[in-house]
Amino acid sequence: MFLTLKNNSEFLLSAERMQSKESSFNEEESFPVRKLEISDKRKGFIELLQQLTVCDSVSDKEFEGRFQELSLYSDEHLVCVIEDNCSGKIVATGSVFIEKKFIRNCGKVGHIEDVVVDSNARGMQLGKKIIAFLSDHARSMGCYKVILDCSTDNKVFYEKCGFKQKEIQMVKYFT
Ligand SMILES: CC(C)(COP(=O)(O)OP(=O)(O)OC[C@H]1O[C@@H](n2cnc3c(N)ncnc32)[C@H](O)[C@@H]1OP(=O)(O)O)[C@@H](O)C(=O)NCCC(=O)NCCS
Repeated sequence: MFLTLKNNSEFLLSAERMQSKESSFNEEESFPVRKLEISDKRKGFIELLQQLTVCDSVSDKEFEGRFQELSLYSDEHLVCVIEDNCSGKIVATGSVFIEKKFIRNCGKVGHIEDVVVDSNARGMQLGKKIIAFLSDHARSMGCYKVILDCSTDNKVFYEKCGFKQKEIQMVKYFT
């Protein structure tokens, strides 16, 4: 009797594991993180950035020009996106810039910027996925830390991504 129950519970456990593996596999397939591609403009990339801040419409020529410019920095300026493979829309993005310093033995710092998840896709761990991707990239580029600025509203989100609050942000706008 005990053996039967044990086997049943083992069976249930592995079925649950299989189910959860399957769902994370499916999620991986539906929402993979990748580098920005030039064709992402027509998949709603600019409209997504407009959910973050002021971002006027960008012409195809302007987009292509900036895309080529950023490509020259190669892995030192990475913009990543998540495309919803069902709708073909870009639903999340973020970028990281690698700063080369003299301090810390000519160390490097990653600066995370422009993180946004489409309002219809929030709460699905996509933001966390973007931050993990950008942080892993910064680490692989030899950065000793990765930093970002955020509103107090997003503090808990970044804490859940493994960040902690340090110092304050200062800014001077020119336009
Ligand atoms: C902030 C933002 C990127 C979060 O993206 P998201 O995909 O909804 O977040 P996730 O689903 O990956 O959330 C990861 C965890 O953080 C939590 N979380 C997300 N946003 C939160 C918030 N504003 N306050 C508290 N917790 C938050 C989630 O509940 C989740 O918790 P769990 O792991 O315990 O379940 C998204 O809300 C957004 O694009 N906001 C508007 C633009 C913006 O403010 N960008 C940040 C600029 S610094």
